Amino acid sequence: MCGIIGYIGGRRACEVIVKGLKRLEYRGYDSAGVVTGDGEGLHIRKGAGRIDPLVSELGLLNMPGNRGIGHTRWATHGVPNEINAHPHTDCSGKIALVHNGIIENYLELREELRKKGHTFKSDTDTEVIAHLIEEELKSSRNFEDAMRRALLRLKGSFALGIVYAGEPDRLYFVRNESPLVLGLGTGENFAASDVPAFLEYTRKAVFLDDGEYAVLTRESYTVKKLKTGEKVEKPVQEIDWTLDMAEKSGYPHFMLKEIYEQPRAIKDAIHGNSDLIPAVAEEIAKYSKVFFVAMGTSYHAALVGKYLFQRLAGKIALVEEASEFRYEAENILDGDSLVIAITQSGETADTLAAMKLAKRKGAKVMAIVNVVGSMATRVADITLYTHAGPEIGVAATKTYTTQLTVLTMLAMELARKLGRMREEELKTLEDEFMNVPQLVESVLSHAGGLEELAESLKDQRDFFYIGRGINVPTALEGALKLKEISYIHAEGLSAGELKHGPLALLEEGVPVVAITPSGRLFDKMVSNIEESKARGAMVVALSDSDELRETADVLVEMPPVNEALTPIVYVVPLQILAYHLAVLRGNDPDKPRNLAKSVTVE
Ligand code: G6P
Repeated sequence: MCGIIGYIGGRRACEVIVKGLKRLEYRGYDSAGVVTGDGEGLHIRKGAGRIDPLVSELGLLNMPGNRGIGHTRWATHGVPNEINAHPHTDCSGKIALVHNGIIENYLELREELRKKGHTFKSDTDTEVIAHLIEEELKSSRNFEDAMRRALLRLKGSFALGIVYAGEPDRLYFVRNESPLVLGLGTGENFAASDVPAFLEYTRKAVFLDDGEYAVLTRESYTVKKLKTGEKVEKPVQEIDWTLDMAEKSGYPHFMLKEIYEQPRAIKDAIHGNSDLIPAVAEEIAKYSKVFFVAMGTSYHAALVGKYLFQRLAGKIALVEEASEFRYEAENILDGDSLVIAITQSGETADTLAAMKLAKRKGAKVMAIVNVVGSMATRVADITLYTHAGPEIGVAATKTYTTQLTVLTMLAMELARKLGRMREEELKTLEDEFMNVPQLVESVLSHAGGLEELAESLKDQRDFFYIGRGINVPTALEGALKLKEISYIHAEGLSAGELKHGPLALLEEGVPVVAITPSGRLFDKMVSNIEESKARGAMVVALSDSDELRETADVLVEMPPVNEALTPIVYVVPLQILAYHLAVLRGNDPDKPRNLAKSVTVE
């Protein structure tokens, strides 16, 4: 939801900023803008659309100056056009700033400032901040003081990059409930919404916390508290992501690269967590109430987590979308509750709010997160990382399968601790689990037919995905992937629910994708497939069983795998199918319309 990149040092700021914006485009891509400073002058260029065309249209690479800030936008207030694109300025044009987040009290502030004679150019909530600082500057000792006083009046979430023409040697960055991280170089410094934006130049990072701001010069960085202005000592963290991880490496899209990285990512998730899991499982076992909270794809991982906890370990767990939980869970949380938040970015506003509510109510909070140092890791009492590496494609793929990996490890260990599985049975499952990266690899190497399948399905208007038990979430995730990037309407549902309504929608040729691993629920799925066929549906079955060769219209052959591990393996062809459908329909799967990778507003 909007990306920010700032630079001060010896290079041409516009070059660093344009590169950074390209890496941040996954956060928003409806408009963009850059401000650079040379001496006391500010230069601003901005416009609607994606970065690449804007670079040439606006000449973003010909801007003078060694300090500057860029922004890529995902509109909340005001349509995406040139006027509403960031940076925004005050009346004098000496203060320019970019913003990620929402200012909730901007209407009253704008009214107040209008009465004092300020003229507003845009429809955004952001512009009010520039005018507010300008106003405070009239009665402040210096710019920093004015900025602090102005920002203390804001309600809402904001990460800001601010440049003042009167101070040619510095930039300001602020964080309050929207991400911001500093990158430390030699004779140069950076700030951004996310690490990949400056990974090419430095791996030394300082993560700001809520209510903090940083003053960056070429040679130094100082972090202070917004409330008091007092200095804060911050740890410098060494980031272990490589630049290669944040680049396409020959793949046409990040999403495809990330799908193919899954065997490696799953291995890293296993190795990165194996030492930690026993103690964490021990902790989980102590709580009688376990809640999973998450949004989007992470919510589907949470649903799988619940099935795993219950089936393997006999541990009851509830799952709720964080956006609901945050307003509904007040009366059910206490010291005997454990809330497990699952979030790739660690920045999803609803998930963070659910975690904070849990903390207020005395619950223990655990987070399963991909982005190192993100906000969720700061709120949580316990964090497990998914170790998937940076995920740039907006549609989550490798972060989903690594979330499932961590959840499976927890559930198996919990089963051991709670004595719910025989040791022998558990050992067999653990051995199979260690083989999951190879199984995913084999699915990927047999994925050729999926492009052909996509070709035959590309003009369909509706898809249905059905599954049972632990693969109901797989059906939901398959449908979500398709919706997100191909813009085809899709529904995921439990196969048992089919005849309670959705069956009425099936007619000749409508694709029904059936997740049908052999095992306990196989026969039940076959009945549902038959019901769908009887209504003319075109059934695409994912299965390791030959039995479906005749019943299904298309059989996507899967390797045999223990039921508990099917969600990780079976989602892979669904990701690839969605990817091909998106590409065949002329869409950019990495940047689906109207969506953003991290939703840092409610
Ligand atoms: C957005 C993304 C989804 C993601 C969801 C939750 O909607 O587009 O891909 O699943 O946010 O994000 P999180 O970072 O909390 O996992």
